Parts: sequence; C-alpha cells; structure tokens
Amino acid sequence: MKALNRRDKSVVGLDVGSYSVKLVHLLHQEEGYKLLSGLEEECFVPEGDNLEKVVEAIEKVFHRAGLKLRRCEEVVTSVSGSGTTIKQVNFPLLTDEELRSSIKWQASKHLPFGPEEAVLDYQVLSRDEESESMSILLAAVTKTYLAEHLELLRKVGIEPLIIDFSPLALLNTLLATQELVEDRALVVLDMGAKNTILSVYRPGGLFFTREISVSGHKMTSEVQKQLGVTYEEAEEIKKDGKSNQKLLTILKAPLDQLVFEIRRSLTYYENRTGKGGFDKLYLAGGSSRLVKIDTHLQSNLGVPVEEMNPLKGIEIDGSQMELRTAVPQLTLAVGLALRDLED
Ligand SMILES: Nc1ncnc2c1ncn2[C@@H]1O[C@H](COP(=O)(O)OP(=O)(O)OP(=O)(O)O)[C@@H](O)[C@H]1O
Ligand SMILES: [Mg+2]
Repeated sequence: MKALNRRDKSVVGLDVGSYSVKLVHLLHQEEGYKLLSGLEEECFVPEGDNLEKVVEAIEKVFHRAGLKLRRCEEVVTSVSGSGTTIKQVNFPLLTDEELRSSIKWQASKHLPFGPEEAVLDYQVLSRDEESESMSILLAAVTKTYLAEHLELLRKVGIEPLIIDFSPLALLNTLLATQELVEDRALVVLDMGAKNTILSVYRPGGLFFTREISVSGHKMTSEVQKQLGVTYEEAEEIKKDGKSNQKLLTILKAPLDQLVFEIRRSLTYYENRTGKGGFDKLYLAGGSSRLVKIDTHLQSNLGVPVEEMNPLKGIEIDGSQMELRTAVPQLTLAVGLALRDLED
C-alpha cells in the first residue's frame, strides 16, 4: 500500500437527493484521484416530508465511510432547483473592484428573486474591450433556501466547506472524466427522482441550465396508474425493466414530455447562440438506468446518447470494486468531491 503523501488531500462530496443520499470520498493525489468510498442510502418517501429519513441516511453513509460527522472538515455539498439560478450574462466592462462593489445591482435584473434575498457567486468568463462588455457566469441562491440547507446539515453536525451549485458540479465531473471535443456542445442530463437537471456546455461558449420536472418519481407513478399496482410494486417493475417488455409504452406520457422539454431547451440554446450541433448527450442520475432510455432518447432527439461513467480515469480503492460497474447516480457527488479546496 502506498504511504499517504502529506500533500494529498481528501474531499467528501455529499449529494442530498430526494431519493437517496450519496457520499463520495476522493483522495486528491499528485498523480490523480483515488476513490476511497462511494456510498448511497435511500431516504425516499412518495408523499410528504422525508427529513427524518434524510438525517438518518446522512448519518449512515458517514458511518459506512468510516468518517466522523462532527470532525469532517472537507465536505462539499450543493444546492439546485427553484431557489437557485445560474446564468451566463453580459455586463458592461468593469474592473474587478468595480464589479465587486456593483455586483448586486448589476445582477438584480437577471435574478428570478429580489437581490436582497440573494446570496451571489460569479465568475468572469471573458472581457471584450471592443464591445466594452464582459461575460459573467452568475449563480445565486435565496437566503431562505441556503439557511434551510445549512440547518439540515447542522442537525447532523456538518459544516460544509463549500456549497456548490449542482449543475456546475455535474459539469465538473464531465470535464474531469470524459474526453471532450473542442467547440462542440455537450448536454448533461441528470435524471433523479423528483427532478432532471439539463445543462448545455460548449467549451468557450454559452453555459445554459434548467430543471425539468419529469423524472423517476413521475415514471413510477405512471407505472402504478397504468398497471393498478402499489407504488412499491411499480418501483420494482420499473427497475426490473427486462421483465416488462412494454415498459416504454407504459411510460409513453412522461417520456414524451421529457423529450419535448429537452428538445425545447436545445432549440432555445441553438437560437440564442446561432450555433447548432450537439456532440453528445450524457445521461447521469439513477433514472438513466431505466431500460432502453438511452436508445429512446437518441432516436427521438437525433443526438448520440451515452451513459456517464463518473469514475472513468479515477483509481478505485480495492474495497470499492463493486463500483466498477455503472454508477451514474454518483455523478453529482463525484463532481462535488472533485472540488479543489484551495481554489
Ligand atoms: N434500474 C433502474 N431503472 C429505472 N430507474 C431506476 C433504476 N434504479 C434507480 N432508478 C430510479 O432512479 C431514481 C433515483 O435516482 P437518483 O438517486 O439520481 O435520485 P436523487 O438524486 O436522489 O433525486 P433528485 O436528484 O431528484 O433529488 C429513482 O426514481 C429510482 O426509481
Ligand atoms: Mg439527484
């Protein structure tokens, strides 16, 4: 076994999803990344509040990873959804200092909520002297949502070092693990239980993200309705797709809606950037394991679809060998654990 280098750092990516809590513990070494743990604990309830189950699931994944909740100082988590926004916008050309002092005011017209209610983060992507403008990636979360997220983590004794935005962390995984073709737009689709996050990224181009409300829970509810079974039975039938050849027919309504929403977003992106051509659509999240969803999306969207392997190129510790098979549901947690804490 290799001795731990003193400069090696480890980072814990914690994805608190609506279906399950995922923990990815990554060692950042000079020669690359090593996966120490990749774990998942379910916390889903079809209706109502699952707070208690979430707390229990967080405690369990930390325990299984051999990490002490209150002593773990390198946790990265994320926020997403309606209390957040991420947009690439143009500002007039400003110095760093001018930007810092006027960011709230500059950002206010781009936010879906009041600037007083927002916690902002931004990154200058480019400056253009000729048009006297600059391109900014603006991300914001409402104070209320952020407080709720922190409150939940404090319940179990976690003080996260960084709170990221889920679409940006997903992009992180993509950039670190897949070979990308320059100047081609890529799409990431993280299909969870309650939501699907769609992001479009073109190296040096526009970053665009939105949420689509079609995901695993809607699909299970559809199976339940169509076949007249319980929610739990429907979940089993959906996951064991091979035993039901008609699954895609049963799921026609939510799948049609999903295709419609994806197509709408891609058309919007093409119209806004004036550039067509999507190189690939990467599928992530637990619902990307739905039987034949890849070929279904590929033939309906006309874009090559590939299942994301978030651990591609990452060394895997001997104790974690079962993760060598597909683990698309860990994509977000991997992206969080990839964060450079000194950044
Ligand atoms: N083999 C499978 N086939 C089809 N669906 C599956 C399979 N395995 C898991 N799922 C579905 O994946 C979903 C959970 O995915 P994931 O763990 O990515 O969600 P989450 O991140 O917790 O939720 P969200 O991001 O919406 O908050 C569930 O709806 C589950 O039914
Ligand atoms: Mg998720």
